Amino acid sequence: MTKTRIFSGIQPSAGSLHLGNYVGALMQWRDLQDDFDAIYCVVDMHAITSPQDPAELRASTRATAAQYIASGIDPTKSTLFVQSHVPAHAELAWVLNTLTGFGEASRMTQFKDKSARQGSEAASVGLFTYPVLMAADILLYDTKVVPVGDDQRQHVELTRDLAGRFNSRFGDTFVVPEARIGTETARIYDLQDPTSKMSKSAASDSGLIRLLDDPKRTAKKIKSAVTDDEREIRSDRQAKPGVTNLLAILSAFSRTPVAELEASFAGKGYGDLKGAVAEAVVAELEPVRARTLELLDDPAELDRLLAVGADRAESIAQETLARVYDRIGF
Ligand code: ADP
Ligand code: NA
Repeated sequence: MTKTRIFSGIQPSAGSLHLGNYVGALMQWRDLQDDFDAIYCVVDMHAITSPQDPAELRASTRATAAQYIASGIDPTKSTLFVQSHVPAHAELAWVLNTLTGFGEASRMTQFKDKSARQGSEAASVGLFTYPVLMAADILLYDTKVVPVGDDQRQHVELTRDLAGRFNSRFGDTFVVPEARIGTETARIYDLQDPTSKMSKSAASDSGLIRLLDDPKRTAKKIKSAVTDDEREIRSDRQAKPGVTNLLAILSAFSRTPVAELEASFAGKGYGDLKGAVAEAVVAELEPVRARTLELLDDPAELDRLLAVGADRAESIAQETLARVYDRIGF
């Protein structure tokens, strides 16, 4: 029986991925790779829609791939590659650009947010067509399921619209994919500002756990997490965002439902909870960090793994692109 194809990607992050990326993306990807035919991509072409330093981009692309592998993405089970190594992404994106309405692209809320942040003069046309490149990423692989965060729902909708539009204009060519949105407990918030998502663009570093942080630093950040003036350890996103976030983190790292954790912490204090979170996070992330550093220490081996992934991705992508070119009259 052939496995269902899934595709997902993360932009290379300067420095290191964070705990939110790990829980919201990498952990799920690792679990999915056994049951699905998984394609995981480091989307460096998306990354240049914000101004980049070339040497830094190159380093962070490799470091991001290394963190995928160190987190358990197995390059012999999954297809793991770097987007710019497969030119078909840019080629299909161009074709899809010609099918995307200007008004349709203008309605993408992430573009509105990001272009407002960059300024309308600084924001590039590349940032504007970012969702079309994402549609190409997904459609090239006959992807059936796209595991993404809630913030990407609109982009997957656009992908579905473009696939359907192409199919009805030129004949059945693309698989129309579905989004698989992560659960609320898979969303991690800033330790210092627990009503905001943990994000690489956080104002301060103290609320952000990086996968490559020193374990002592990680434990210290967790022990300094913001809580509240009560004593009760229970999950309540509105009234107790800090404690709720710590419970969600512990739930992810101990593979234990939140309700069970609440019961086991009955009568205990926030110090106990923080201690348990720090212990669970450090125990799991320490080997991830060590393995990442090992991989980065052997660039030839990492390049070899990424070349194998790019070859496999390329052969699938080329087949789709040939079908598309034929249909449109090239
Ligand atoms: P950031 O928000 O730091 O810019 P990205 O947008 O690059 O991170 O996200 C990459 C992946 O990590 C996406 O799949 C996204 O859903 C997931 N992710 C990012 N931040 C979090 C978070 N705080 N909690 C859960 N998942 C997250
Ligand atoms: Na983001």
